[in-house]
Amino acid sequence: MKANQTAPQLDPARIPAHVAIIMDGNGRWAKKRLLPRIAGHKQGMEVVKTITKAASRLGVKVLTLYAFSTENWKRPSGEVNYLMKLPVDFFSTFVPELIAENVQVKVMGELDALPAHTRKAATDAIADTAANTGMILNFALNYGSRDELVSAVQQISQEVAAKKLAPEAIDEATIAAHLMTAELGPLADPDLLIRTSGEERLSNFLLWQLAYSELVFSQTLWPDFTPATLQAAIAEYQSRDRRFGGLTK
Ligand code: FPP
Repeated sequence: MKANQTAPQLDPARIPAHVAIIMDGNGRWAKKRLLPRIAGHKQGMEVVKTITKAASRLGVKVLTLYAFSTENWKRPSGEVNYLMKLPVDFFSTFVPELIAENVQVKVMGELDALPAHTRKAATDAIADTAANTGMILNFALNYGSRDELVSAVQQISQEVAAKKLAPEAIDEATIAAHLMTAELGPLADPDLLIRTSGEERLSNFLLWQLAYSELVFSQTLWPDFTPATLQAAIAEYQSRDRRFGGLTK
């Protein structure tokens, strides 16, 4: 997908229900402007606001955003601290708009390992938007797919050891029910994954859930991502022929 096209026409009947985004390129955006990397993350946070509203208005049901991975702790402490403060800034300014848009916040990841102020910002936003019935804005925060799968295997093993579950009764639904996306129910698996900035890899994101997702790689750096770029990605999704391993008609 090329950078920043004008918004194409979309088929309103085939808007992807669950869109997941790997928001990449904040550092390069800042570097191009001779700014510190955190300036890219700050602009990236503003883009999250714009894209949340755009996705909600297009009829997306779940928007999952990869905000911090279990591997991102390897970054310099100044950058990690800034990234941990971003949810505080984001929710302190944006929750009223989320409520006005009827958007419900969810957060998935190893939340116990987050600093207290980050965890509180997340849990407050979840509580403040719990009554909303529109799009789910689902942040992956200290999330890693392998970590998620390890936890699922541990939980299932404990149920087997306690004789609550027979090994031969374990099926795909059992595994899905123990993943962090379980509460999204039938919407747990993304229909469309977008990764920005030209990188083409999954980086430990939703490895189970992306089994049949359409992948769209955009050249646009996340801080330059606009509602038109989102629409272009959805147009590309709508041009694909999803067969789920079967045949078309
Ligand atoms: C990847 O770009 C981006 C991140 C690791 C952080 C993503 C966070 C945001 C977009 C801010 C929004 C967060 C909230 C909670 C609203 P990079 O730093 O790896 O960029 P680079 O590959 O160009 O260095």
